[in-house]
Amino acid sequence: MNSRPIAVFDSGLGGLTVLHALRGRLPQEDFFYFADTRFLPYGDRPEIFLRERGVLIAEALARRGAKALVIACNTATAAAAEAIRAAGALPVVALEPGVKPAAALTRSGVIGVLATTRTLASERFGRLVGNHANHLKVVAQACPGLAEAIEREGPASPEVAALLDGFVEPLADAGADVVVLGCTHYPWVAEAIARRMPPGVTLLDTGEAVARQLERLLLAGGLVGGGQGRLTVATSGAPLAVTATVDRLLGAKMHVEHWEP
Ligand code: DGL
Repeated sequence: MNSRPIAVFDSGLGGLTVLHALRGRLPQEDFFYFADTRFLPYGDRPEIFLRERGVLIAEALARRGAKALVIACNTATAAAAEAIRAAGALPVVALEPGVKPAAALTRSGVIGVLATTRTLASERFGRLVGNHANHLKVVAQACPGLAEAIEREGPASPEVAALLDGFVEPLADAGADVVVLGCTHYPWVAEAIARRMPPGVTLLDTGEAVARQLERLLLAGGLVGGGQGRLTVATSGAPLAVTATVDRLLGAKMHVEHWEP
């Protein structure tokens, strides 16, 4: 029973940055990673679309035999986590931008947040800032096109560099000393972001925290173990294109299957 895989999903391959932390902490588990690349980028899509798509994906993953679900996407969490939980198909771990740890770390009193337009416009993000960073200056910078450019052109491409120049400058100008990577695609360009900030800036992503939370959820539900560390990668888009992107991001050849939720 426990040998069923843990499902992880994102609009694309940003969630691989989270998967890395999950597999590091839970090497005995099997994972099924689903990249919804047919609908990448999520960040520019209406909330209602993301909510319905999220519930559909979660229910299909439950039918496919997943024992738990990690929503490895800040945008999908903001739009759909509550609806997915309410649908109750399977236990869920969601992630959100690390505003709370950033508030504990900042000395300058200025936090930068890089995320998608949809995440920053969400009620959930407004609540997060209201609850944890009301006393601080929060520079929330939407990064339209960035996740897509990281996948299509590669993290080291001139297209990504030009986008980062524009998105990171307002954070540096405002004196942010902590930058929250509020989209799971952005750890792929963490070094390039750090280079555009003054020395000593802290970059925060939530992969490790999500891994700890998943472990707690599995323990509480008696769902731990039983796998063999296997990984299956699937996409709603073109498997060959995703294989090429995985290769570019991870330097690894990986079989990618087509799956339609
Ligand atoms: N990786 C996703 C996130 O964490 C979103 C990227 C996209 O716009 O599709 O927000």
